[in-house]
Amino acid sequence: MKSINVAVVGFGNVGRAFVKTLALKRKTLSEKYGININVVAIADSKGMVIKPSGLDDYEMLKLCEVPKSGIHMFGSYAKQGVDIAEIYDKAAPNIHVELTPANYATGEPGYTNIVFALKRGAHVVTANKAPLVLYYREIVEEARIRRLMIKFRATVMGGTPFLEMLSSMKSHDIEKVEGILNATTNYILTEMHENLLDFEQALRKAQALGIAEADPSLDIEGFDAAAKLVIISYVIGKPINISSIYRESVAQISLKDVLDAVKQGHVIKYVAALDAQKMVASVKIEKVPRDNVFAQINGTLNGVRIKSDATELFFIGRGGGRIETAHTVLDDVIEVALRGSA
Ligand SMILES: NC(=O)c1ccc[n+]([C@@H]2O[C@H](COP(=O)([O-])OP(=O)(O)OC[C@H]3O[C@@H](n4cnc5c(N)ncnc54)[C@H](OP(=O)(O)O)[C@@H]3O)[C@@H](O)[C@H]2O)c1
Repeated sequence: MKSINVAVVGFGNVGRAFVKTLALKRKTLSEKYGININVVAIADSKGMVIKPSGLDDYEMLKLCEVPKSGIHMFGSYAKQGVDIAEIYDKAAPNIHVELTPANYATGEPGYTNIVFALKRGAHVVTANKAPLVLYYREIVEEARIRRLMIKFRATVMGGTPFLEMLSSMKSHDIEKVEGILNATTNYILTEMHENLLDFEQALRKAQALGIAEADPSLDIEGFDAAAKLVIISYVIGKPINISSIYRESVAQISLKDVLDAVKQGHVIKYVAALDAQKMVASVKIEKVPRDNVFAQINGTLNGVRIKSDATELFFIGRGGGRIETAHTVLDDVIEVALRGSA
């Protein structure tokens, strides 16, 4: 049985769903794949739990019940304050799971944590887009020279194994990747079309259901979808800079726009597109014919079309959601555990 030690940095929606899923599936995973995945450390913004021998399933499930920012109160393994070096000194994790919030101004704390982990010999799995959007080359190079893996399939279509498929298309010349990459704005637009809510009402409903953040600007200004296009561009080897991506705000869509589009047999969608031949990318409001595939992608679903010199593929699935994203993160961890040299 191969034993792998994991540190989880960031213990919010996805971090908790990851730890809970692992606690519930660990036995099956060890029977199926011959790997024993131990969580040796967890950190949130206020504190850490470090147990070098690994938390047991019960401790992991109980930790998921502590209030937000509260793991420093969890028994004798817990302490106040976050010190990533202490996690590595005491518990020497083989895999670093970075699930901190995305900060597109600095990439922090994710960037520093990821580079630190790689320098200490740990493979990295992350759902945090910002460090990759700002420092993709640096991170990948750091991993490459140390022969470590950096996995981030949860960063785009978090609940669907889309990036893995895209990166596996190595013989293809990818011409275009386009689609609905942001679940929050797709939900808002679906509410406007189906329940005739205006933009503000639909946004408030999305916030009440926990689909939209209290500050939804990254989603509605197209920044989140643009960040995903940047990661896609790196994966296909045609890097673009986020500042070069043309973005329109979805907040400018009125109920009248929706009704006018419907009368003309169209549906309004927020489409993110990367033209890898012209090297241009955009996040734009588009009127899509009702019989187009993208018109059928509603609510919190995402849908992406990949056009290559050889084929055309469509992916439809969950863009995020804590449980779906946690499974994608866990898939990455399992893959590293099976393939990595740790
Ligand atoms: N939610 C999704 O469906 C989804 C899907 C795909 C990707 N993602 C990405 O996954 C990441 C996590 O998302 P989430 O929804 O779990 O976010 P979240 O609920 O806001 O959780 C973030 C966690 O990071 C912790 N944190 C903040 N600063 C920290 C620091 N300096 N050191 C250690 N921990 C720190 C927070 O601590 P406190 O609890 O103390 O505040 C919290 O536990 C984000 O980058 C997000 O963009 C999320």
